[in-house]
Amino acid sequence: MLVLGIDTSCDETAAAVLSDGRSVLSSVVASQDIHAAYGGVVPEYASRAHMTAIVPVVRQALERAGVGWQDLGAVAVTNRPGLVGCLLVGVSFAKAVSFSLGIPIVGVDHIEGHVFSLRLASPDLALPAVCLVASGGHTELVLVEKWGAYRTLGRTRDDAAGEAFDKVGKLLGLPYPAGPVIERLAAGGDASAFRFPRAMMEHGNPDFSFSGVKTAVRLKVNELGGVPQGEQLADLLASFQEAVVDVLVQKTVRAAERHSVPTVSIGGGVAANETLRVRLAEEAARAGLEAVFPPKALCTDNGAVIAAVGDSLLGRGVRDDLSLSASASRSGPSVAS
Ligand code: KG4
Ligand code: ZN
Repeated sequence: MLVLGIDTSCDETAAAVLSDGRSVLSSVVASQDIHAAYGGVVPEYASRAHMTAIVPVVRQALERAGVGWQDLGAVAVTNRPGLVGCLLVGVSFAKAVSFSLGIPIVGVDHIEGHVFSLRLASPDLALPAVCLVASGGHTELVLVEKWGAYRTLGRTRDDAAGEAFDKVGKLLGLPYPAGPVIERLAAGGDASAFRFPRAMMEHGNPDFSFSGVKTAVRLKVNELGGVPQGEQLADLLASFQEAVVDVLVQKTVRAAERHSVPTVSIGGGVAANETLRVRLAEEAARAGLEAVFPPKALCTDNGAVIAAVGDSLLGRGVRDDLSLSASASRSGPSVAS
């Protein structure tokens, strides 16, 4: 069966066509550059941009897959969590597709989508696995017992990891999203030049906190008399990146050890970070764990993982109808489209 997956939860308009829950026939992602100057996503601008992009993005996904509307067997759409005005664009469009083609619609949890990058990367992987989901809005350690059965082992108490990258970027005058920019500027920097705090590292604590490291960077910038340049900026960013990566890696490996889980994986935009991948691979190997790294294009927001969750839900008999609504949180009040 071909499933059209749609994600408009934040600032990417994404659509993909997935065949039989495994083969990504196409995946189109239109990133909104309108937010770059604001240091973060402006929700109203984002939902307007989704409205402009949704039709061409879905059309392109069908074209690249070499299929027509009539070939689609179902439509899966992110309906939680995210910016409600943004989610509603995708949900409304998916409903129109479902109604006009007479095919099932299923609403998908965005975080589960990030976890499913693991399934697309390694369809035959034996579970359980511990998956670190680190994005702009979420940082969670998820125990994947089986597909569809999850336990949240820990989560951030304040900022998400990606949010820390974006806020530090804003502080330094870098464009949004700052994660990839910081990674590039940090390359060649000395990660031990500055010592930034690693929060909540006491043994057995699975939760995260990234607001302290952001504040520590701000204090360091003040102490340096302003935003550093050149080598010193590279050192500052490498040291900041190291502090965030250190916490993410250690907590992921410890969680797998504590729950006697043999496999670790990562998903979400921050999982595109090469330092994080290298460090997690090293620490996992040291602990005798297998580490699975989905391709970066499946880690950042995309429609393929949403289609994969949708395919799995439909396979288990779960489906929605045209009353499907959107919700800013995972289980909070929803808004009808
Ligand atoms: O999963 P995602 O595409 O969207 C959300 O669900 O939030 O994640 C976007 C986040 C942003 O905060 C961005 O700065 C961060 O992921 N990010 C990175 C990298 N690429 C994206 N952070 C660190 N290093 C990267 N290479
Ligand atoms: Zn995401």
